[in-house]
Amino acid sequence: MSTTPSPAGDTTPGRGPLAGRVALITGAAGGLGQAIATRLAAEGAALALLDAAASVHEGAQRVRATGARCEAAQADLTDPDARARALAALREALGPINCLINNAGITNHIAPLARMSAPGWDRELEVNLSGPFHLIQACLGDMVARGWGRIVNLSSMAARGGLYHQAGYTASKAGLIGLTRNVALEHARHGISCNAVLPGLIETPAVAAMPALVRDDAIALVPARRTGRPEEIAALVAFLCRDEAGFINGAEIDIDGGAHLCPIVLGSAREIRERQAAQQGQPAAPSPARGGSGPPAGR
Ligand SMILES: NC(=O)c1ccc[n+]([C@@H]2O[C@H](COP(=O)([O-])OP(=O)(O)OC[C@H]3O[C@@H](n4cnc5c(N)ncnc54)[C@H](O)[C@@H]3O)[C@@H](O)[C@H]2O)c1
Repeated sequence: MSTTPSPAGDTTPGRGPLAGRVALITGAAGGLGQAIATRLAAEGAALALLDAAASVHEGAQRVRATGARCEAAQADLTDPDARARALAALREALGPINCLINNAGITNHIAPLARMSAPGWDRELEVNLSGPFHLIQACLGDMVARGWGRIVNLSSMAARGGLYHQAGYTASKAGLIGLTRNVALEHARHGISCNAVLPGLIETPAVAAMPALVRDDAIALVPARRTGRPEEIAALVAFLCRDEAGFINGAEIDIDGGAHLCPIVLGSAREIRERQAAQQGQPAAPSPARGGSGPPAGR
């Protein structure tokens, strides 16, 4: 690396602990992606933003308005051609990628295991696990050549306790931890770190939109009794990208208000009602509209 990172507290554009680094953030148009982009730019990194949503370009404009270097590409990261074109364009504009933040992720299929569709399962594995694999492969060459690299994979507390009716999401996020370990095993000696971050319930738009029963039930079981803030995830990701974090490798870092200490398995609305009724020794109350199993029960 040709540049010397400047002091940790320096947020002058182009200066800071990540000055001279180019960071690729996937899912950069989403709740956590935007917070991570804001933080990495504030710490001096030049940003390469990738997302399937067109709004990734507006996000890039906001980052550039702060004085940071930032380019964006709209692409589905599971499409090999689109992914290759996006990476080539971002690399052409900013130079080799030094930090890769695998943040894009989906929950697209919520169903009991017995009724989980094969295409739904496949898509979650494709985006949440194979996507990071392909991007890591694409970025490793540059990192190895420079003897320096940082990879941060956004897993989930789902990888610990599971999520009710979300086998595909859970399996993909647990698989991402396995991938993280192997990257560290094979490439730590090249100056590359690869770590998994396991957020609990974070106050992103998707979590804010969860049914109140499901959200409140989950928060009541979090030792911190609150949801996390996107800025808290972003601060951890930025730290893992710094020079001084280089000896943290192959780690699984829970950032969940202590939720991993408790047997929290986010339930559907129906499951929560059944559990609450069982605790009171009563039959479960009839389910309201939609069969009561409810929409997404969190991440
Ligand atoms: N929010 C939470 O509480 C929470 C908790 C645990 C883990 N996570 C994980 O953190 C990450 C970010 O979560 P979020 O809440 O910001 O999600 P989000 O839905 O707000 O953002 C995800 C982004 O990924 C993009 N994306 C999805 N599929 C893509 C594809 N095929 N190609 C390119 N881009 C694609 C979407 O367009 C979206 O902008 C995810 O991996 C999620 O699983 C979130």
